[in-house]
Amino acid sequence: MHSEYPPHAHNTSVYPDLLLALDALLAGERDMIANRANCSALLFSQLPGLNWAGFYLWRSNELVLGPFQGKPACIRIAKGRGVCGHAAQSRSTLIVADVHAFADHIACDAASQSEIVVPLMTGDRLLGVLDLDSPFIGRFNTTDAKGLETVAAKLIAATDFHLNRED
Ligand code: SME
Repeated sequence: MHSEYPPHAHNTSVYPDLLLALDALLAGERDMIANRANCSALLFSQLPGLNWAGFYLWRSNELVLGPFQGKPACIRIAKGRGVCGHAAQSRSTLIVADVHAFADHIACDAASQSEIVVPLMTGDRLLGVLDLDSPFIGRFNTTDAKGLETVAAKLIAATDFHLNRED
């Protein structure tokens, strides 16, 4: 029996403080791997109710595992496969309240019950996705989507693309 995320846990947004901490971590650094590594550590340590937080990078027409926190995960995901591949294909944030109800979910950690995936875009170019998993059903809501989309925008703004080619 898997538990729902406690409703009261949604009441206080941690994103204002988290976004300030992210600004401090990104200040003066333009390396996308270093920035994504610290970002995944920040998300995993500051957002309650997670069992995985990290990035898949868009490389040679597929998603490849990038910096993350949590258990080891599947390395390559084709566009259109899994929650990550669907979000990459649609280029929009995808919240899955119950991964067992999502037919194409890829189970990397049996503990995962819900998931949110935010595409990282610059213009119309896909750079990868930010992926968070929770052991609670219904962990993610529109506050998370908005907060994590801001996280993605800050990471992209902190990247020099001529120094950090991914494709
Ligand atoms: N569940 C994802 C795979 C990646 S792991 O959650 C880290 C998916 O269905 O795409």
